[in-house]
Amino acid sequence: MIVAGTIRVPGDKSISHRSLILSSLADGESTVRAILDSEDIRSTASVLRELGVQIPPLSETMRIRGLGLRGLRQPREALDCGNSGTTTRLMAGVVAAHPFSARFIGDPSLSRRPMKRIAEPLSYMGAQFEFEHGDGLPMTVRGVDLRSVDWDTGGSSAQVKSAILLAGLVSAVEVRVTEKSLSRDHTERMLEAMGADVENDSNQVCLRPASRLHPLEIKVPADPSSAAFFVALASLAAAGELTLTDVCLNPTRTGFFQALRRMGANVEETRVMSSGGEEIGTVRVSPAELKSTRITAEQVPSIIDELPLLACVAAGAGVELEITGAAELRVKESDRISAVVQNLRAVGAQADELPEGLRVSAGRRRFAGTIDPHRDHRIAMAFGILSAATENRIVIQDPQCVAVSYPGFWEDLRRVTA
Ligand code: S3P
Repeated sequence: MIVAGTIRVPGDKSISHRSLILSSLADGESTVRAILDSEDIRSTASVLRELGVQIPPLSETMRIRGLGLRGLRQPREALDCGNSGTTTRLMAGVVAAHPFSARFIGDPSLSRRPMKRIAEPLSYMGAQFEFEHGDGLPMTVRGVDLRSVDWDTGGSSAQVKSAILLAGLVSAVEVRVTEKSLSRDHTERMLEAMGADVENDSNQVCLRPASRLHPLEIKVPADPSSAAFFVALASLAAAGELTLTDVCLNPTRTGFFQALRRMGANVEETRVMSSGGEEIGTVRVSPAELKSTRITAEQVPSIIDELPLLACVAAGAGVELEITGAAELRVKESDRISAVVQNLRAVGAQADELPEGLRVSAGRRRFAGTIDPHRDHRIAMAFGILSAATENRIVIQDPQCVAVSYPGFWEDLRRVTA
């Protein structure tokens, strides 16, 4: 397979969620350009609308009039977060600091995901949480004036960290969050760009009380997690080159590019500019002979969403991959350890589950069969790349589930491989 072309993948999903949420909490009118228009971001927009913010339809240039730090109103309906963990966890932090209660609901996949990780710190700060079963959705959050907290998450989750930062922001109390290793830091960067007093010290962040947030001016950079699919495709291709422009090159997000380089790939990142506190640049990729690699716990946070793709890259290149210390994969949009291993086996690769990771064995194979993405966008796209790159016949059930983060994925894939 030969690749060619230049591609600007859609806007970063994490930054798009945060643009809508923080613009809604600012004083005055924010301008958000190039936001991702996908199902997850529509979930955040509709939750904010239900809380009284006039969010226009998602479009290339959006102007959002913020209601200030305490301006949201009690919702009339349940807050439907669809498939989006980021919407649920970040908005739970916001609601926990408002003087009303809200019931969060979601689709079956989101309803199974653990919420204790945010309920614990936010309850400690004073909010009340009620669960109808286990610690999943539906979940009712009763907000109050929260107290300050110094919380060690014991792990590395940007959603947990952001929930605490947003709760502290709205309640105007100091919050400090310590992580095992630094998770994506988009919330901190955006808060700083909006005038908040944020102090970062390696894996610790402290947000000091603020009376207001300045409006946000941002052009959302392209999502490195979406760019990753094309970086993988070009690395596995027989010939050609792909250029990805305008990519967010925040170092907490580029673990996949680094991992591929360790495997021998030709992945060149060039930083071009910075905007809204984020580094942005170009990624050039051409095919290479890849070799085996390992991913261990310390590397996991910066590559967490790309691990299913990395497993497909290893299978496609016929090399060995071992991932350990990645138990988090079990509580994503699907159990990504079992979904990846089951599907790799279904198309003829040799793969095994580990309690907190997986192993792909070396060996060149022809892949054929049908995969079930378990309604998980990243599983569908990872196998789409394996299929395209190796010119094998892999049928993907429910290909439209990619709309969660990248509605135009199949069209872009056709364009660069045509
Ligand atoms: C995200 C954080 C990560 C990531 C998810 C998006 C965010 O989840 O996997 O896709 O935007 O904060 P965790 O915080 O659970 O690690």
